[in-house]
Amino acid sequence: MSALFQPFEMGGVSLANRIVVSPMCQYSAVEGLAQPWHLIHVGGLMLSGAGLVIMEATATEAAGRITHGCLGLYTDEHEAALSSLVSEARKLSDAAIGIQLGHAGRRASCRSIRDRNKGESLPPEEGAWQTFGPSAFGYDETWHTPKAMDADDIARVTQSFVDAAVRAGRAGFDVLEIHAAHGYLLHQFLSPVTNHRTDAYGGSMENRMRFPLEVVRAVRAVWPKQKALGVRVNSTDWHPDGQSIDEAVAFARQLEALGVDYVVMSAGNLAPGSKIPAATPGHQVDFATLIKKHTRLVSMAVGLIATPELAEEIVSEEKADLVAIGRAMLDNPRWGLHAAARLGVDVDYAPQYLRARPNNWLGFPLVHPDAQPVKATRQVDRPASGAGWDRPAT
Ligand SMILES: Cc1cc2nc3c(=O)[nH]c(=O)nc-3n(C[C@H](O)[C@H](O)[C@H](O)COP(=O)(O)O)c2cc1C
Repeated sequence: MSALFQPFEMGGVSLANRIVVSPMCQYSAVEGLAQPWHLIHVGGLMLSGAGLVIMEATATEAAGRITHGCLGLYTDEHEAALSSLVSEARKLSDAAIGIQLGHAGRRASCRSIRDRNKGESLPPEEGAWQTFGPSAFGYDETWHTPKAMDADDIARVTQSFVDAAVRAGRAGFDVLEIHAAHGYLLHQFLSPVTNHRTDAYGGSMENRMRFPLEVVRAVRAVWPKQKALGVRVNSTDWHPDGQSIDEAVAFARQLEALGVDYVVMSAGNLAPGSKIPAATPGHQVDFATLIKKHTRLVSMAVGLIATPELAEEIVSEEKADLVAIGRAMLDNPRWGLHAAARLGVDVDYAPQYLRARPNNWLGFPLVHPDAQPVKATRQVDRPASGAGWDRPAT
């Protein structure tokens, strides 16, 4: 019996299985607004077989967008666009839908991958904006210098997370993930590499955690109890002066105390000078296992989990409770359905796609030359003539 396909309860949300679509920026919004692309993208992933689909990093204020193409959730119009997307997506499958809220901090106002120039600060003629950070120095000398956030900025950004969380709840999302990793604003406060403050928000680890914890506490207070709240954390910055894994675990313990339901342990992307080891399959799973060991939080593993066998191993050996799949889902938006076939699990297909179900056509072996058809509980009715149909695999 597959562990990956066992249902799971998290913070009042029921998941059909342990597969999560990791949040992935699409750089396709206009003025922060979701476009038809987002429904195509999310809609496809709702049919992926995953138990939970988490939408991309969505900015809580305009200045928190990474690029001009990033989603935002800071006006009624943004809320209406996402609300209509959620209600359309719900018609496609029973997968739970989540959204990641974030603020890019000093890494805002840059060109996007869609301009083939990821990682370059926007020049003024392309609509650059004032960025914010814990301290007034940029990612490197070519990046904008952020304004070091004062008390008003801290209060404003905290409130922007609260307001966006309220909007996300109204828009119908089941799960909210706060982005505190990958070198964006909350992580910039957490890491000593990016936080050089000398006030209550800098210096000791307790001080560096203060702003991210204030944000999480304020969001938890407004995010409905029957919905799940998660945080994406950097396990390590892979930087000699960066946040250590012990600090990440201590942060996770604080998150647990605030009523967070899950943590997803990622890594890297903080600042130049990071020495990131070459990624290997499941290279961040050990960090997720540490969370299981040291907290009672639900632990989500992410990072180069691309095969059903690896995903199954992670869950069955209790290295993590959930697995988040990123690029493998972009490459193959039926990843979860194909994983089920590989692991011999019978899962539902959308009625429109039922004829492509493994047991219904001979193309199934294309998934894997050695794959065996799974036993069906729900068979497509074949037309009497059988015309145009492949012979179902026995
Ligand atoms: C196109 C793309 C966009 C991404 N955007 C986000 C994002 O919005 N938020 C986030 O936390 N991680 C983001 N990531 C990181 C992924 O969620 C994931 O952690 C990473 O790709 C590693 O998982 P994988 O090996 O399964 O792809 C992005 C990754 C890709 C490939």
